[in-house]
Amino acid sequence: MIGVFDSGLGGLSVLAAIAHALPRADLAYLADTAHVPYGSKTDGFIRGRVLAIGRHLVARGCTTIVVACNTATAAAVQALRAELHGIPVVGVEPGVKPAAQESRTRRIAVLATESTARSERLARLIREHAQNVHVHIEPCPGWATRVETLHLDGAQFAAEVRAKLEPLLAAGADRLVLGCTHYSFLKPGLAAICAGRAELVDVAEAVARQAVRQAGAAAHGSARLTLLATVRPERLRAALPHLGLSRLAERAGPAQLAVV
Ligand code: DGL
Repeated sequence: MIGVFDSGLGGLSVLAAIAHALPRADLAYLADTAHVPYGSKTDGFIRGRVLAIGRHLVARGCTTIVVACNTATAAAVQALRAELHGIPVVGVEPGVKPAAQESRTRRIAVLATESTARSERLARLIREHAQNVHVHIEPCPGWATRVETLHLDGAQFAAEVRAKLEPLLAAGADRLVLGCTHYSFLKPGLAAICAGRAELVDVAEAVARQAVRQAGAAAHGSARLTLLATVRPERLRAALPHLGLSRLAERAGPAQLAVV
C-alpha cells in the first residue's frame, strides 16, 4: 500500500495523479485535519507531525510514503527518511527547476505557505536550479485554509488573489510555481488571471511519476483507497466531489478517524 499524507485536502491533488498512474495500487490518504494549516506552524511542530504520521502509515501496512505537502517536505523529509529507514519516502518540492528552464522572461515567482517561503530547502532549490533567473517568493497566508473550507471562488478572494498576482505579472514573471499542493485546487481562478501572460507550474504529475518509480510491489493491489483524517473524517470524503475528484470517491470506503 502507498501512504500519502498532507495537512488536509491539498495532497489529494497528488493522490489523484498517483491513482491515475497506478490504477491497481492500494492507497491510503491521511489528512492531518486536526492541525491544518501547517504553513503557519513552527518547523519543530511540523517535524513532530510528519514523523508521527509516517510511523502511523507504516504501522498500517504502507511500504511507500508520499509526503504530499511542500511545507512538510521542506521541514521534515530528511528526518522522515532517517526515521523510516529502508522505506521509500517521496517528497514534494516547488517546481522551480522546470519553471526556470521554461521561462522566457527569466523571471519566475513561487507561491507558497509562509513556512515553505522562509525554508532553507526552497533557498537551496533556487540556488541549484535557478541561478540565472530572478525568483520572487510570494507567501500566500490563508490560501490553504480557503481550500480546506471549499470556498474556492467568491468575489472577495478573487480580488485578493488578483492583488497578489498582478504585481508579479507586471514585473514580467511568466511562470508561477504552485509551491503548495492546496493551490492545485485554485488553478481555474489563477489561470484566468494569468491568461496569456504566465503559465502555472504544478508538480503533482511529476511526483506521481516518482511514486511509480519507488512503489515496487505496492503498485499492484486491488485498487482500494483508505481515507483517514485526524479530525472529522467524514468531511474528507464529502470534499472529493467539490474538488472534482468523484472518481477517487468511487475507490474509497467511509473515511476513518486516525488517532495520531
Ligand atoms: N498543502 C501543504 C503544502 O503543500 C500545506 C498547506 C498548509 O497546511 O499550510 O505546503
